[in-house]
Amino acid sequence: MPRDEHGHLTAGRISPQRAVPKDIERPEYVGRAQPDELGHGDLYDADEIERIRTAGRIASQAIDAVGEAIRPGVTTDELDRIGHEFIVAHGAYPSTLGYRGYPKSLCSSLNEVICHGIPDDTVLQEGDLVNIDITAYKDGMHGDTNRTFVVGEASQEVTDLVDRTRTAMERGIKAVAPGRQVNVIGRAIEAYAKRFGYGVVRDYTGHGVGRAFHSGLIIPHYDAPQYDTVIEEGMVFTIEPMLTLGGIAADIWSDDWTVSTRDKSWTAQFEHTLVVTERGAELLTVS
Ligand code: MF3
Ligand code: CO
Ligand code: CO
Repeated sequence: MPRDEHGHLTAGRISPQRAVPKDIERPEYVGRAQPDELGHGDLYDADEIERIRTAGRIASQAIDAVGEAIRPGVTTDELDRIGHEFIVAHGAYPSTLGYRGYPKSLCSSLNEVICHGIPDDTVLQEGDLVNIDITAYKDGMHGDTNRTFVVGEASQEVTDLVDRTRTAMERGIKAVAPGRQVNVIGRAIEAYAKRFGYGVVRDYTGHGVGRAFHSGLIIPHYDAPQYDTVIEEGMVFTIEPMLTLGGIAADIWSDDWTVSTRDKSWTAQFEHTLVVTERGAELLTVS
C-alpha cells in the first residue's frame, strides 16, 4: 500500500520514535498533551530576533539536506531521519516531535496532502511533489519553514503550481509593512492565485512564532478583512500559503494529522518565518 488503486495516498507504517540527545533543550510541550503557547506575545527585541534567526537557519539548512536526498525510491521516513539527524547535530530540537502528540521530526506532504503528512514507508515516485516542513527550536526560540520539491521530472501543470505557490508566498511577504493590517497579506496572495484558478486553502494559516510554535496570532492567506491586527515593527510570524489545482475543502485522515484535499487535487506550499522591519519584512529562515 501507501497508495490505493487510483494512486491516491493512504497511511503507511510509522517507524519507532527517534531519540534526541539529553543535552538538547526541549520545548515545554514535549511529554505533555497540550502546549502552553498562548499569551507570550508576538514582539521581539534584537537579541531574540537573532535567536529565532539561528533556529530558522538550522531549519532551512535541514531542508537543504533533505532536498539533496529527494529522488524516486526514497521513503518519507528516510527523509525524516535525515532532517532529524541534521537538526540534533546542530544542537537544536525538531519542534514537531511530540507537539500535540505528533510523532516525527518533519512533515512530508505529498501530492493531494495539503500539510501535516507524517513520514512513513511511502516511497517517492517520479512526478510526485513533496512539501517538507521543518521547525527547529534552539535557545528558547522556534524557526519554521517549508518548501515544495518535485520528484524527478513532473508535469508542466505541477511545476507551474509549485513555482506560482513560491511566488504567492513572496507576494505575501512583500505586502508586509508596519502600520498595515495583517489582511493585506492574504489579499495579495489570493489575488495572484486567482489568476490561475488555484484554490487558496483557508483552514490552515500563517501564525506568530518564536517563543511559542504557534502564538495565537493568525495570518490568513485569503482576503479576510476581519483579521485586522496591525502589523508592528519587531513582530515575528510565518507566511505559508497552500494552493491547490482544485478545491479547498479538506479532510483529516484517521491518524488525526494528515490533511488532504477532499477532491484529491494536488497542492503545494512554501513557508518562511519573518520579522517586521521599519520598511517591510526580513526573512529569518534562510540558509
Ligand atoms: N510546521 C507546521 C506549521 O507551519 C506545523 C506542524 S505541527 C505538526 O505551522 F505537529 F503537524 F507537526
Ligand atoms: Co508554520
Ligand atoms: Co511549518
